[in-house]
Amino acid sequence: MNVAIIGTGYVGLTTGACLAFLGHEVSCVDADANKIAALRRGEVPFFEPHLEDLLADARDNLSFTTDYSQAIPEAQVIFIAVGTPTGVGGAPDLRYLEAAAHGVGEHLGPHFTVIVNKSTVPIGSGNWVGTLVRERIQRNGAGGAKCFAVASNPEFLREGSAIHDSLYPDRVVIGAGEPKTAEVLYTLYRPLLDQTFTPPRYLPRSDRLGAVPFISTDLSSAELIKYAANAFLALKISYINEIGQLAERVGADISQVARGIGLDARIGTQFLHAGVGWGGSCFGKDTAALIATASEYKLEMPIVAAARQVNHRQRERVIEKLQEELKILKGRTIGLLGLAFKPQTDDLREAPALEIAQRLLERGARVRAHDPVAMERFRRERPDLDVTLCETAEGVARDADALVLVTEWPQYRELDWEALAAGMRSPIMLDGRYVLDRVRLARAGFRYVALAG
Ligand code: UDX
Repeated sequence: MNVAIIGTGYVGLTTGACLAFLGHEVSCVDADANKIAALRRGEVPFFEPHLEDLLADARDNLSFTTDYSQAIPEAQVIFIAVGTPTGVGGAPDLRYLEAAAHGVGEHLGPHFTVIVNKSTVPIGSGNWVGTLVRERIQRNGAGGAKCFAVASNPEFLREGSAIHDSLYPDRVVIGAGEPKTAEVLYTLYRPLLDQTFTPPRYLPRSDRLGAVPFISTDLSSAELIKYAANAFLALKISYINEIGQLAERVGADISQVARGIGLDARIGTQFLHAGVGWGGSCFGKDTAALIATASEYKLEMPIVAAARQVNHRQRERVIEKLQEELKILKGRTIGLLGLAFKPQTDDLREAPALEIAQRLLERGARVRAHDPVAMERFRRERPDLDVTLCETAEGVARDADALVLVTEWPQYRELDWEALAAGMRSPIMLDGRYVLDRVRLARAGFRYVALAG
């Protein structure tokens, strides 16, 4: 099929690459001319494992443009995958979505087209996008000649495993007003639903994966599924972090507690890793948006609100722990291992490391940091934060009063602990993710401190 994708961020570019890989003709549109030029050269503007390989494998089916008139008129399916950052009062800022809907309305072809909201948008946005497109068509005097429908197809990919999650999803959710619309998207996703495509060599299919469930529902339900899923995952993490606080007081081991409850199939072991809390572009934004939407209907969401509160408390817990160890933070040097909001990405949006650094700086500490991939982005995006970046973990540790493991990059599990401890003023390691071997660290001369316990 002929597909246009508006927006070349994580969601748009991954969707475009995957659909092209499955054999569709895909045009990716973005207003940023530099980004489009880089993509044409085969460069990916952010770090995402295997995305560059997939784009290269699918290049015969892919084109990149800043011009709506080159991508929209021919498209049978148009995905809108633009950013919806948090705006005033927690509600998402929809200006990019509005611009995309106008662009689509301006250039829509004469055949039946399905316009798909892939961005995480407030409930009711499907109808709103439909209205914006219709208004633009009518303004141009082409009302009767254009026929389109709006659908919602929420994205569940995780950064760092975006390609895997897109090629081998747990489910595909489509929200649409009429069966005809859902059928178009069913046809588009057929190779993925039936898993009939040949997997890329770098991402083999698991033997356990069968056919992918297809959930066809109305627009509002699909839109709510996205928010409800993200809020649930966020509160699962906050729940284990809250239990972690109690575990510390009663002398229990939170990792064992998480395993002990997670092996109950009704609960599940995933998203029960306690630590400095969740960050990233989705959980904070989507929980805020859910609360904002509910308040428009005069509904409170105390569970979601509490998940947010607990998450902020986790960051503060890092500072309290360091204070307990060092007594005074002013003038101390604290080293952060990891800046990205999670491993395998250079994304810094709502990264716990940034909030922790900010709070340490406010208390007069000096902050050093290392990250295997996110340092360049940090330099670009956060020049306001007075953090000294070091090329190695050893550099972060040198003469530091304490280290904090903030992002659980695999390479931080196997450092030369003896050398690190020897170079520090006081060899304290605060494990913010419960991933380090406390016996091994103690043997190397560290005082190992977990975030809880
Ligand atoms: C999330 C959802 O998982 C995905 O389905 C949705 O489409 C977008 O939002 P993402 O933000 O990319 O994906 O990363 P995810 O792996 O969910 O991690 C989010 C945050 O939670 C990270 O900061 C991570 O460190 C933290 N986390 C995750 C925990 O603290 N504990 C866990 O057990 C799992």
